[in-house]
Amino acid sequence: MSVAKKEYKRITVKSLVDMKARGEKISMLTAYDYTMAKIVDGSGVDVILVGDSASNVMAGHETTLPITLDQMIYHASSVVRAIERSLVVVDLPFGTYQSDPKEALRSAIRIMKESGGHAVKMEGGKEIKESIKRILNAGIPVMGHLGLTPQSIYKFGTYTVRAKEEQEALQLKEDALMLERAGCFAIVLEKIPAKLAEEVAKSVSIPIIGIGAGNGVDGQVLVTHDMIGMTHEFNPRFLRRYMNLYEDMTKACSQYKDDVKSGDFPSDNEQY
Ligand code: KIV
Repeated sequence: MSVAKKEYKRITVKSLVDMKARGEKISMLTAYDYTMAKIVDGSGVDVILVGDSASNVMAGHETTLPITLDQMIYHASSVVRAIERSLVVVDLPFGTYQSDPKEALRSAIRIMKESGGHAVKMEGGKEIKESIKRILNAGIPVMGHLGLTPQSIYKFGTYTVRAKEEQEALQLKEDALMLERAGCFAIVLEKIPAKLAEEVAKSVSIPIIGIGAGNGVDGQVLVTHDMIGMTHEFNPRFLRRYMNLYEDMTKACSQYKDDVKSGDFPSDNEQY
C-alpha cells in the first residue's frame, strides 16, 4: 500500500539568491528541537536557523559562548529530523572556528556529517576570511553574520546598536562585500541602523537577512521563542510578539496544578 505524501519544493541556498533577485522577501526563524522545527517548517518559513541562541533560550546561559559543538549537533539533528521543506542553517559555536582555518573546517564538517544540516553560519568579517574560504572550498555553504555578533559580546561590552559610527559602518560595508566575494550565500545583519542595512542590501547580490536592521533588507529573522512570547524578559524594540505564550502557559500549568490538588483531574473519562 502506498501512502500519498505531500510534495514540497525544498528551499536551497540557490532558492534564496533567486528570491532576492525577484524581490521576494525571505522568512527565517530559529528552532532547536524536533517539535518546534515541525511547526516552523510546516508554517512555510523558508529558513530554520539552529542558532547558538540555544545557549540562552534552551540552557539559560547569559551569553552564547558556553554552547559546545556537540550540543549544537544535538539540536541541529533534532531539527533536521522534523523538516520537509525549510533550509536548515546551523551556527558554528564560539571557539570552533576562530583559531585556525583547519579547525574551522573540521567543525563545519562535523556539523554537516553528524546533524544533516544544509549550511553553517559564522560571525565576523575579515578576521575569519581564511576560515570561511576553507569551509566554502569543501562545498559547505556559509551564511555570514555582521553587526552585533553575540559571540564577541565581551569585546563590545553591551548589546546596543552597532555601526552607528562612520568607521564601524565603513568596516561593515567592506566586510559584507568581502563575504559576498568569498562566496557566502547570505548574510545576517544584526542590530544596525536601518539606513546602513538597506545600503548594504543594495550593494550585494546575495540576500541580507536582518534582525533589528529595518525593512530595507531582503528578509527577516527572529528567535521563535521571543516571537511567540515564550520568553518575556527580553523586550528589544525590533521584536514583534505574535503571541503571549509565557502568560498562557503559566495559566495552563497553574490550572493543571489546581485540578490535581482538588482531585478534578483525572476525571472518569480520563482513566482506564
Ligand atoms: O543565534 C541566533 O539565534 C542568531 C540570530 C539572532 C540571528 O544568530
